Amino acid sequence: MFKQLAFGTAAALAIGLAPVAWAAGGEEAHIEDIAFSFEGPFGVYDQNQLQRGLQIYTEVCSACHGLRYVPFRTLNDTDGPGLPADQVRAYASEFQVYDAELEDTRPGLPSDNFPANTAVGAPDLSLMAKARAGFHGPYGTGLSQLVNGMGGAEYIYSLLTGYTGVQQEQAGTLFYENTAFPSGWISMAPPLQGEDVEFSDGSPNDLHNEAVDIAAFLMWTAEPKMMARKEAGFVGVIFLVVLSLLLFYTNKSIWAAVKKKKT
Ligand code: HEC
Repeated sequence: MFKQLAFGTAAALAIGLAPVAWAAGGEEAHIEDIAFSFEGPFGVYDQNQLQRGLQIYTEVCSACHGLRYVPFRTLNDTDGPGLPADQVRAYASEFQVYDAELEDTRPGLPSDNFPANTAVGAPDLSLMAKARAGFHGPYGTGLSQLVNGMGGAEYIYSLLTGYTGVQQEQAGTLFYENTAFPSGWISMAPPLQGEDVEFSDGSPNDLHNEAVDIAAFLMWTAEPKMMARKEAGFVGVIFLVVLSLLLFYTNKSIWAAVKKKKT
């Protein structure tokens, strides 16, 4: 029993330690911890924040980055940005989408996806918040992820606010020093300076708030069903608790006669 336990623990540790090699090199990247509304077992997306993030994506990031795994119609989800259906239709029609049947482009429909990226070297952002981790733990053990989560949204926030202002040219490409980017030098120019967009409800648009909003929006694009997942998990836990109680008392009543005889 103990041998098995020890073996299991060792195996789990070995798997947990696997990413060490990747994170070990270089200086520790600086990741700011943000208290996002969607964190924790009961956390939910903030609809207004997602709408602000969508606006930042549309007005700034979409110049280079695509969101090709995100269908326009999901902007209508109540767990997501919750835009009214007519606004989703109007929004989609602002994009030109290639239609294989027409062999031409046409205005987008809610059933289409966001276009893919437009600038060379700019990665698609649909799944970025799940593809990157902000927290690695000491020596990249991933231990702090148990407490803090993966930190994908925190990574994006820190990337957008982590420019030092120093730049250098290498082989004809400009690189910008960034304290969150793993290699320390990124080829994306600082996309946000603060006051890049104007929110209709007068929400603050300084660099910090813009970066938080777009990070939350990109978390939603990467995991649009987070609320449903948490709900299913919660129902599952309640179910298991009730089942455990039933089994416990069934066991007691089945063995009651036998146990009485012994004493
Ligand atoms: C002018 C074009 C351009 C704009 C505008 C732009 N980006 Fe980028 N972005 C890039 C390029 C190019 C890269 C690849 C950089 C590299 O790998 O050195 C990149 C990379 C990224 C990455 C990935 C970093 C990584 O870990 O690999 C994220 C996240 C990102 N951008 C977010 C954003 C957000 C959010 C916005 C809008 C606020 C934005 N970008 C606006 C060009 C752009």
